[in-house]
Amino acid sequence: MSPLGAEHLEQVAGIEERGQLTPMSRGLLAPILAGDSRSRIIGAFDGAGTLAGFLIYSLLPPESELEDLCVDLPFRNLGVGSSLMGAYCAILEEAGCSCSHLEVRISNAPALHLYRKWGYGDVGRRRDYYRLPWGGREDALLMTRSGA
Ligand SMILES: CC(C)(COP(=O)(O)OP(=O)(O)OC[C@H]1O[C@@H](n2cnc3c(N)ncnc32)[C@H](O)[C@@H]1OP(=O)(O)O)[C@@H](O)C(=O)NCCC(=O)NCCS
Repeated sequence: MSPLGAEHLEQVAGIEERGQLTPMSRGLLAPILAGDSRSRIIGAFDGAGTLAGFLIYSLLPPESELEDLCVDLPFRNLGVGSSLMGAYCAILEEAGCSCSHLEVRISNAPALHLYRKWGYGDVGRRRDYYRLPWGGREDALLMTRSGA
């Protein structure tokens, strides 16, 4: 697990485009990777040095926000998402962030499972928050994890 830099833009953008219904653009990812943003990014690599997934977050102690988490398709269900969550929780503890927030599509069963496993509980719902690529919208579930 390590911080990512500008040299990882193509890999991160590719994982995001393959993995998300409405991917973040290169224009949004580039300043994060360059360190020109309040958001930070960590990545998980396989033994051959291929980027398997990444997690984007921001810290505003004692609060924090998990902004994006994506694991590339061939690496799903192998524990990469869980490893990224573990690294993120360790960062929160070190930074003194006792409260972490996130938003997730209500239909995203694998992500909901992972977040609940890592101690996030449901705290609210935003109606029609996310756009669907095939038209229409879906709700966001708001989740919070309290405690280091
Ligand atoms: C959500 C995501 C990051 C999980 O990454 P991952 O590396 O596959 O996660 P892990 O392998 O650590 O854990 C996956 C867990 O989800 C479970 N799972 C998989 N598919 C599931 C489903 N359809 N319903 C419920 N749980 C499911 C697995 O059984 C596993 O649980 P376990 O560890 O208790 O056995 C990955 O699916 C992803 O990148 N999705 C697209 C992007 C996204 O939706 N990001 C999150 C919202 S921003």
